[in-house]
Amino acid sequence: MTNLGEQKILLLDGNFKDGNDCKRILGGAFNFRDYSLTFSCMVVPSEGEMFDILDSGSYIPNLFLLALESDETDCHQVIGKLKSNDRYKNIPIILAARERDEDKEAAGFELGAVDYVYKPYNEAVLRWRVFNQILNSANNLKIKTLTHQKEILFNAMNANEELFLNTKLREKQLQNTIINAGVISLTARDECTGRHVDRTYRYLKILVEKMIAKGYYKTEFEGLTDQEMFLKSARLHDIGKIAISDLILNKDKELDDIEKELMKEHASKGAEMIRSFKDKHEKVLFDMDDAEPKPGDFLYHAARFAEYHHEQWDSNDGYPSEKNKNEIPFEGRLLAIVDVYDALVAKDRPYREAWSHEKACAHIEGLDGIQFDPMIVAAFKEIEEDLKNLIMEETAI
Ligand SMILES: [Fe+2]
Ligand SMILES: [Fe+2]
Repeated sequence: MTNLGEQKILLLDGNFKDGNDCKRILGGAFNFRDYSLTFSCMVVPSEGEMFDILDSGSYIPNLFLLALESDETDCHQVIGKLKSNDRYKNIPIILAARERDEDKEAAGFELGAVDYVYKPYNEAVLRWRVFNQILNSANNLKIKTLTHQKEILFNAMNANEELFLNTKLREKQLQNTIINAGVISLTARDECTGRHVDRTYRYLKILVEKMIAKGYYKTEFEGLTDQEMFLKSARLHDIGKIAISDLILNKDKELDDIEKELMKEHASKGAEMIRSFKDKHEKVLFDMDDAEPKPGDFLYHAARFAEYHHEQWDSNDGYPSEKNKNEIPFEGRLLAIVDVYDALVAKDRPYREAWSHEKACAHIEGLDGIQFDPMIVAAFKEIEEDLKNLIMEETAI
């Protein structure tokens, strides 16, 4: 049982007897289906008195019951006055009449009345009609309140989403700036490597798109929150070369064994640089409490691309991470293949002649399961034509 509490009815009726009858009928506690309420009825004999009470502000009814037996103009005026006042316009009005006149009834509804009752009153019918309008009004108020609350919530969600998107955009811009700054610094040290990281990024993108289309390493790719930033972070894979001596970096001949060992350090040095950058700066830039790189952070992937891109699948001659096969982080296995491909076909290496696309592909395929992850070689075979076309386009430019 829902208790609707005290429901105040303001009755305007110039007929003393009718007013008293109505006050008796609409007085006391009642149950209507699942609802209980208490009616309290105030009777006023004239329009003037009614507005005096209303204007005093001390009494606001839940329902008006207007017995307007004078001419139609008066009736229009009273209802019009109530409907033009913000305080009363939503309070239901029931009109009472002695005789049924359908034209007048229609005119009353047109003005804003919600129901009609007829004298002499039938007690049960009068109570039910008043109850129905009070319940309807209470439900309307509830809907209005819920709609308003929904609007507030919706606006708050929109504002939040906008803030979230702005923060995400700012974060993306910062990530791009960091990657570009790294590549620009690297290019300033070694133009050849600067071009290499841009090309490997494009090859990697084609390779990854093919692998996703084929469903290779589905779990690994589905775990990426931002595929674009994952790929872009690979452009930092040779950042460690900044820390390699000019004598080695810019040597125009093949490196000797000692120099090769020193050059190999660019992988671990690069990863160290990226991780230290995150430790020192990302916390400030992205307001993160946890400075440890974790999956999903672009610097986490960048560090893994850098550290493991020279690892070999069978671990015979890779960089000394003591990892092999699937222990090698996915980023390293992915990049290894396009990194070698570019190293072989690049025409800007001062110390050796570029290989043809076909020779480079045959070399990579020959190292399937030896230096490279077999599933990634399978995807590579399917993009060979795309890579060839890309190289031809770039040569044409
Ligand atoms: Fe490298
Ligand atoms: Fe590289």
